[in-house]
Parts: sequence; structure tokens; C-alpha cells
Amino acid sequence: MESTFPVFDPASPQAESIRDLFVHVLLISAGIFAIVSGLICVALYRFRVTEKLPVQDFGSHKREIAWMAGPVIIVVWIAAISIKLILTINALPTQYVKGATAEQDGVDIVVTGHQWWWEIEYPASGIVTANEIHIPTGKKLRVALRSEDVIHCFWVAQLTRKMDAIPGHENFVWLEADKPGTYQGRCAEYCGTQHAWMNFLVIAHDPDDFAAWQQREKQTSTPPTEKLASDGAALFMKLTCSQCHAVAGTDAKEDFAPDLTHLASRAQLGAGVIKNTPDNLRTWLANPQAVKPGCKMPNFKLKDEQLDQLVAYLETLR
Ligand code: CUA
Repeated sequence: MESTFPVFDPASPQAESIRDLFVHVLLISAGIFAIVSGLICVALYRFRVTEKLPVQDFGSHKREIAWMAGPVIIVVWIAAISIKLILTINALPTQYVKGATAEQDGVDIVVTGHQWWWEIEYPASGIVTANEIHIPTGKKLRVALRSEDVIHCFWVAQLTRKMDAIPGHENFVWLEADKPGTYQGRCAEYCGTQHAWMNFLVIAHDPDDFAAWQQREKQTSTPPTEKLASDGAALFMKLTCSQCHAVAGTDAKEDFAPDLTHLASRAQLGAGVIKNTPDNLRTWLANPQAVKPGCKMPNFKLKDEQLDQLVAYLETLR
């Protein structure tokens, strides 16, 4: 799934131009490296220790001007092509008016960084999910980036530039994918103990599949009918799960922790730390601190029976 060198495997026009700039600068640097190391080798050979000193050369205006002008031209050139690219790919907050809602600003997705997971909201449809961004292909989406705690950095190497998510300040980025697929996203700014496990997936669908996903995602949960699962649903409310999490259609409405409305349909748990399987979900519930030390989910020291009930319930959240 994940590309070994995602920057070299772009899947959006934006990522492609970033790759091109990177290769451009890399070639210039490689050229300079080759010239400098070549000259060092020549000097080492020609002026190796011999009987007599080489001819001493004190100053040359022409050469001094040349070695000043050369680097200046190169630096100005690199700055020019970088600024041009930044201006092309940036989603500037031009229409953003203080106090305007996300919809008014034409925001398609609001992404909020938390230690250590991502909250994903679609203002138009009211869908809320976590650590998984579903998008239709071929559409340039405006993403607003926010943070609830410290500075995080949103980065999908195959699709976007990096952009910080800063508390109290909204940033924007364009998100677009050429073809359907799953793209790895990461937090690219050190943000505490579990920075390394603050991953997310961008799942790009054909527009029809995306519409179907939206339809499923809009449905709220229905109370489970099966005994084990319905005991789990009661336990979920009785324990303090509902004081941090939300499950649409129930009394659990908090947004301190990931929204669990469609938890069982997601690919990963704990912002990418483990795959989302019933066994892994059980391991996670049994002791989240063992799976992701430092995460905000406490160890509830659940009994085996309680684990069975909770897993049965959470697996109904599709
Ligand atoms: Cu969030 Cu690093």
C-alpha cells in the first residue's frame, strides 16, 4: 500500500510539482557536489607534497567576482522556482473572514489535530470520523487545519504539501487525488510521546463510491439486537466511554476522543498503531497503554466478560 518513496510517487498535480522541484534542486546540488569534489581531487593530486612549493597566487578580482556571482545566481534561481511553486499550490485563506463558519469559507473538510489522532469533519454533510479521510477523485478539496492542543503538521506525501495545524490559528491546504487508492498521511511535526503514531489514511474513491460512502457514514447507529452486543452497548454507557467518545444515535456525544459511530468500518486503530480487527480491538481495550503508551485512553482493567461485550458492541458500529 504505502509507497517506499512517497515523494517520488505523486498522485496529485500538486504532489507532482513538488516532486519536480525536489528533483530540480537535487540535480543542481548534485552538480555542485560533483564540481567541488572533483576540484578537491584535482588539487590533492596536483599539489601533493613535492620538493618545491607551487606558484603562490595572491588574489584575482575576476575569480572573486565569479565565485560570488555563481552562488548568488543559483540561490536566487532556487528561491524563484520555490516561491513560484508555493504560490501555485497554496490554499490561501483569502475569503476567510473572522468569525465565518467553515461552510461560508468553502471548506470541504475540517481536520483537527489532537495528541495523538486526527478528527475529520465534513461541514456540508455533518459527517465526523477519525484518522481516515475519504475523498472523491479528481476534485480539489479545501481542507482547514486546526489543533486542539499543540502544533501538529498535516502531510500526505503523495498528495499534498506539508502544513502545520496550529492551536488558535486556521491553516488551509488543497487535497486532491488523481486516482482511487489509499494514501498514507502522517503528523510531520514532533508533538509529544506518540508523535510517531499519529498517522492517518486518505482513501480516494470514484465519485460514485464516495457518494455511497457518504450515505453509509450519515447513518446513525441502531441499538444492537444480539444479547452480547446489547450488553456491550449498556456497558459502554455505564463505563465512562461516553464521557469522551461520541456514537451518533446514542447519548454518547463527546468529542474529546475519536468519534466511534462507524468504528468497525475503519482500517486501523489508535491512529495507525494496529490494524482494526476484533482481536486487536480487544487487545486495545484490555490495555491501551500497552499498545500506545502515553495515549489519553486509560486502562479500565476490564474483565474478560466485559471485553467480550464491548468488542461485540463496537463491531456492530459499521
Ligand atoms: Cu502530531 Cu506529531
